Amino acid sequence: MKPLPAQFIKSAAEYEQCPAPSKPEFAFVGRSNVGKSSLINLLVGGRDPIALVSSKPGKTRLINFFEIASRWNLVDLPGYGYAKVSKSAKDVFQAIVSDYLLDREKLACVFQLIDSKIPPQEIDLTFSQWLMESELPFVLVFTKADKTKKGALDRNVEAYHLAMSEFAEGLPRTFTTSSKKGDGRTDLLEFINQVVDQTKR
Ligand code: GTP
Ligand code: MG
Repeated sequence: MKPLPAQFIKSAAEYEQCPAPSKPEFAFVGRSNVGKSSLINLLVGGRDPIALVSSKPGKTRLINFFEIASRWNLVDLPGYGYAKVSKSAKDVFQAIVSDYLLDREKLACVFQLIDSKIPPQEIDLTFSQWLMESELPFVLVFTKADKTKKGALDRNVEAYHLAMSEFAEGLPRTFTTSSKKGDGRTDLLEFINQVVDQTKR
Protein backbone atom coordinates (compact mmCIF):
# COMPACT_ATOMS: atom_id res chain seq x y z
CA MET A 1 0.00 0.00 0.00
CA LYS A 2 1.97 2.94 -1.27
CA PRO A 3 1.19 6.19 0.55
CA LEU A 4 0.24 9.24 -1.48
CA PRO A 5 1.98 12.56 -0.97
CA ALA A 6 -0.54 14.73 0.86
CA GLN A 7 -0.38 18.31 1.87
CA PHE A 8 -2.76 20.33 4.01
CA ILE A 9 -3.84 23.47 2.15
CA LYS A 10 -6.18 25.30 4.51
CA SER A 11 -9.32 25.25 6.62
CA ALA A 12 -12.31 27.42 5.82
CA ALA A 13 -14.97 28.40 8.33
CA GLU A 14 -16.93 30.22 5.64
CA TYR A 15 -17.30 29.59 1.96
CA GLU A 16 -15.51 32.85 1.14
CA GLN A 17 -12.39 31.49 2.86
CA CYS A 18 -12.05 28.52 0.53
CA PRO A 19 -8.77 28.52 -1.43
CA ALA A 20 -8.79 29.55 -5.07
CA PRO A 21 -9.90 26.56 -7.12
CA SER A 22 -6.98 24.72 -8.68
CA LYS A 23 -7.08 20.92 -9.01
CA PRO A 24 -10.20 18.72 -9.40
CA GLU A 25 -11.84 18.38 -6.01
CA PHE A 26 -13.29 15.31 -4.34
CA ALA A 27 -15.49 16.16 -1.38
CA PHE A 28 -16.14 13.74 1.48
CA VAL A 29 -19.33 14.10 3.44
CA GLY A 30 -21.54 12.00 5.68
CA ARG A 31 -23.17 11.69 9.04
CA SER A 32 -20.97 12.48 11.97
CA ASN A 33 -18.98 9.42 13.14
CA VAL A 34 -19.49 7.59 9.84
CA GLY A 35 -15.73 7.11 9.49
CA LYS A 36 -14.88 10.00 7.22
CA SER A 37 -11.55 10.94 8.78
CA SER A 38 -10.53 7.26 8.95
CA LEU A 39 -11.33 6.81 5.27
CA ILE A 40 -9.39 9.92 4.31
CA ASN A 41 -6.39 8.57 6.22
CA LEU A 42 -6.78 5.19 4.54
CA LEU A 43 -6.81 6.77 1.08
CA VAL A 44 -3.70 8.81 1.75
CA GLY A 45 -2.11 5.83 3.47
CA GLY A 46 0.71 7.69 5.17
CA ARG A 47 2.15 6.70 8.51
CA ASP A 48 0.94 9.92 10.09
CA PRO A 49 -2.80 10.50 9.68
CA ILE A 50 -3.74 13.77 7.99
CA ALA A 51 -7.31 13.79 9.33
CA LEU A 52 -8.18 13.61 13.00
CA VAL A 53 -10.07 10.48 14.04
CA SER A 54 -12.37 11.35 16.88
CA SER A 55 -14.38 9.57 19.51
CA LYS A 56 -16.64 12.59 19.93
CA PRO A 57 -18.80 13.05 16.86
CA GLY A 58 -19.44 16.30 15.12
CA LYS A 59 -16.22 18.08 15.88
CA THR A 60 -15.26 19.24 12.44
CA ARG A 61 -17.18 22.34 11.47
CA LEU A 62 -14.66 23.54 8.98
CA ILE A 63 -14.00 22.64 5.39
CA ASN A 64 -10.48 21.23 5.20
CA PHE A 65 -8.58 21.20 1.92
CA PHE A 66 -5.73 18.83 1.12
CA GLU A 67 -3.72 18.41 -2.04
CA ILE A 68 -3.06 14.78 -2.93
CA ALA A 69 -0.34 13.48 -5.22
CA SER A 70 -0.02 16.97 -6.76
CA ARG A 71 -3.02 15.91 -8.85
CA TRP A 72 -6.30 16.35 -7.00
CA ASN A 73 -7.72 18.00 -3.92
CA LEU A 74 -9.42 16.19 -1.13
CA VAL A 75 -12.08 18.24 0.61
CA ASP A 76 -13.22 17.21 4.07
CA LEU A 77 -16.71 18.65 4.66
CA PRO A 78 -18.38 19.05 8.06
CA GLY A 79 -20.53 16.07 9.02
CA TYR A 80 -24.29 16.41 8.88
CA GLY A 81 -26.97 15.13 11.14
CA TYR A 82 -26.09 16.29 14.61
CA ALA A 83 -28.44 19.26 14.21
CA LYS A 84 -31.41 17.02 15.05
CA VAL A 85 -33.41 14.97 12.62
CA SER A 86 -35.42 17.23 10.41
CA LYS A 87 -37.69 17.11 7.46
CA SER A 88 -36.06 19.55 5.14
CA ALA A 89 -32.70 18.99 3.52
CA LYS A 90 -31.55 22.50 4.35
CA ASP A 91 -31.75 21.84 8.09
CA VAL A 92 -29.69 18.70 7.78
CA PHE A 93 -26.37 20.33 7.03
CA GLN A 94 -24.70 23.65 7.47
CA ALA A 95 -24.94 26.45 4.97
CA ILE A 96 -21.22 26.19 4.33
CA VAL A 97 -21.72 22.70 2.92
CA SER A 98 -24.41 23.73 0.46
CA ASP A 99 -22.55 26.92 -0.45
CA TYR A 100 -19.47 24.89 -1.26
CA LEU A 101 -21.27 22.10 -3.12
CA LEU A 102 -23.50 24.34 -5.20
CA ASP A 103 -20.88 26.86 -6.15
CA ARG A 104 -17.54 25.14 -6.47
CA GLU A 105 -16.47 25.01 -10.09
CA LYS A 106 -13.69 22.47 -9.51
CA LEU A 107 -15.93 19.97 -7.73
CA ALA A 108 -15.34 16.67 -9.53
CA CYS A 109 -17.29 14.28 -7.32
CA VAL A 110 -18.94 14.03 -3.91
CA PHE A 111 -18.34 10.93 -1.81
CA GLN A 112 -21.35 10.41 0.42
CA LEU A 113 -20.36 8.09 3.24
CA ILE A 114 -22.94 5.80 4.80
CA ASP A 115 -22.54 3.42 7.72
CA SER A 116 -22.86 -0.07 6.27
CA LYS A 117 -23.98 -1.71 9.47
CA ILE A 118 -27.30 0.06 9.77
CA PRO A 119 -30.43 0.03 7.59
CA PRO A 120 -31.18 3.16 5.51
CA GLN A 121 -31.45 6.31 7.59
CA GLU A 122 -33.75 9.12 6.59
CA ILE A 123 -31.08 11.74 7.07
CA ASP A 124 -28.73 10.02 4.59
CA LEU A 125 -31.53 9.57 2.09
CA THR A 126 -32.49 13.23 2.45
CA PHE A 127 -28.92 14.17 1.63
CA SER A 128 -28.74 11.77 -1.34
CA GLN A 129 -31.97 13.24 -2.65
CA TRP A 130 -30.64 16.75 -2.27
CA LEU A 131 -27.45 15.81 -4.18
CA MET A 132 -29.57 14.25 -6.90
CA GLU A 133 -31.91 17.21 -7.19
CA SER A 134 -28.97 19.58 -7.22
CA GLU A 135 -27.55 17.55 -10.11
CA LEU A 136 -24.22 17.08 -8.37
CA PRO A 137 -21.95 14.18 -9.33
CA PHE A 138 -21.77 11.79 -6.39
CA VAL A 139 -21.05 8.22 -5.37
CA LEU A 140 -22.01 6.26 -2.26
CA VAL A 141 -19.38 4.80 0.04
CA PHE A 142 -20.55 2.26 2.61
CA THR A 143 -18.05 2.40 5.48
CA LYS A 144 -17.03 0.10 8.33
CA ALA A 145 -17.57 -3.05 6.26
CA ASP A 146 -15.53 -5.07 8.76
CA LYS A 147 -18.24 -4.58 11.37
CA THR A 148 -20.93 -6.50 9.49
CA LYS A 149 -21.36 -9.91 7.93
CA LYS A 150 -21.37 -9.78 4.15
CA GLY A 151 -25.06 -10.79 3.91
CA ALA A 152 -26.25 -8.05 6.24
CA LEU A 153 -24.07 -5.49 4.49
CA ASP A 154 -25.47 -6.43 1.09
CA ARG A 155 -29.00 -6.16 2.46
CA ASN A 156 -28.34 -2.68 3.84
CA VAL A 157 -26.88 -1.52 0.52
CA GLU A 158 -29.77 -3.05 -1.38
CA ALA A 159 -32.33 -1.46 0.94
CA TYR A 160 -30.63 1.91 0.48
CA HIS A 161 -30.73 1.58 -3.30
CA LEU A 162 -34.37 0.58 -3.14
CA ALA A 163 -35.22 3.58 -0.97
CA MET A 164 -33.30 5.82 -3.38
CA SER A 165 -35.18 4.53 -6.38
CA GLU A 166 -38.23 6.37 -4.97
CA PHE A 167 -36.65 9.64 -6.05
CA ALA A 168 -33.76 8.68 -8.36
CA GLU A 169 -33.78 7.52 -11.95
CA GLY A 170 -30.43 5.74 -11.97
CA LEU A 171 -28.36 4.72 -8.99
CA PRO A 172 -25.00 6.23 -8.12
CA ARG A 173 -21.84 4.17 -8.18
CA THR A 174 -21.43 2.40 -4.90
CA PHE A 175 -18.28 1.40 -3.01
CA THR A 176 -17.71 -0.54 0.17
CA THR A 177 -14.78 0.25 2.46
CA SER A 178 -13.16 -0.74 5.72
CA SER A 179 -10.60 1.66 7.06
CA LYS A 180 -9.67 -0.95 9.63
CA LYS A 181 -8.81 -3.62 7.06
CA GLY A 182 -7.89 -1.37 4.16
CA ASP A 183 -10.71 -2.58 1.93
CA GLY A 184 -11.83 -0.32 -0.87
CA ARG A 185 -8.73 1.85 -1.07
CA THR A 186 -7.67 0.57 -4.49
CA ASP A 187 -11.19 0.89 -5.93
CA LEU A 188 -11.66 4.44 -4.69
CA LEU A 189 -8.25 5.59 -5.90
CA GLU A 190 -8.83 3.98 -9.27
CA PHE A 191 -12.15 5.82 -9.56
CA ILE A 192 -10.60 9.13 -8.54
CA ASN A 193 -7.81 8.72 -11.09
CA GLN A 194 -10.31 7.97 -13.83
CA VAL A 195 -12.31 11.10 -13.03
CA VAL A 196 -9.15 13.23 -12.89
CA ASP A 197 -8.09 11.90 -16.29
CA GLN A 198 -11.51 12.69 -17.73
CA THR A 199 -11.51 16.24 -16.41
CA LYS A 200 -8.10 16.80 -18.01
CA ARG A 201 -9.34 16.00 -21.47
P1 GTP B 1 -16.53 13.09 12.86
O1 GTP B 1 -15.44 13.84 12.16
O2 GTP B 1 -16.44 13.21 14.35
O3 GTP B 1 -17.89 13.42 12.38
O4 GTP B 1 -16.33 11.51 12.58
P2 GTP B 1 -15.78 10.81 11.27
O5 GTP B 1 -16.89 10.56 10.31
O6 GTP B 1 -14.59 11.51 10.74
O7 GTP B 1 -15.39 9.36 11.85
P3 GTP B 1 -13.96 8.87 12.36
O8 GTP B 1 -13.09 8.50 11.20
O9 GTP B 1 -13.43 9.83 13.36
O10 GTP B 1 -14.40 7.48 13.04
C1 GTP B 1 -15.38 7.41 14.04
C2 GTP B 1 -15.20 6.12 14.82
O11 GTP B 1 -15.44 4.99 13.97
C3 GTP B 1 -13.77 5.94 15.37
O12 GTP B 1 -13.86 5.32 16.62
C4 GTP B 1 -13.13 5.02 14.34
O13 GTP B 1 -12.08 4.25 14.86
C5 GTP B 1 -14.29 4.14 13.91
N1 GTP B 1 -14.13 3.66 12.52
C6 GTP B 1 -13.98 4.41 11.42
N2 GTP B 1 -13.85 3.66 10.30
C7 GTP B 1 -13.93 2.37 10.71
C8 GTP B 1 -13.88 1.10 10.02
O14 GTP B 1 -13.74 0.99 8.79
N3 GTP B 1 -14.03 -0.02 10.80
C9 GTP B 1 -14.22 0.05 12.14
N4 GTP B 1 -14.37 -1.09 12.80
N5 GTP B 1 -14.28 1.22 12.82
C10 GTP B 1 -14.13 2.36 12.12
MG1 MG C 1 -13.84 13.41 11.16
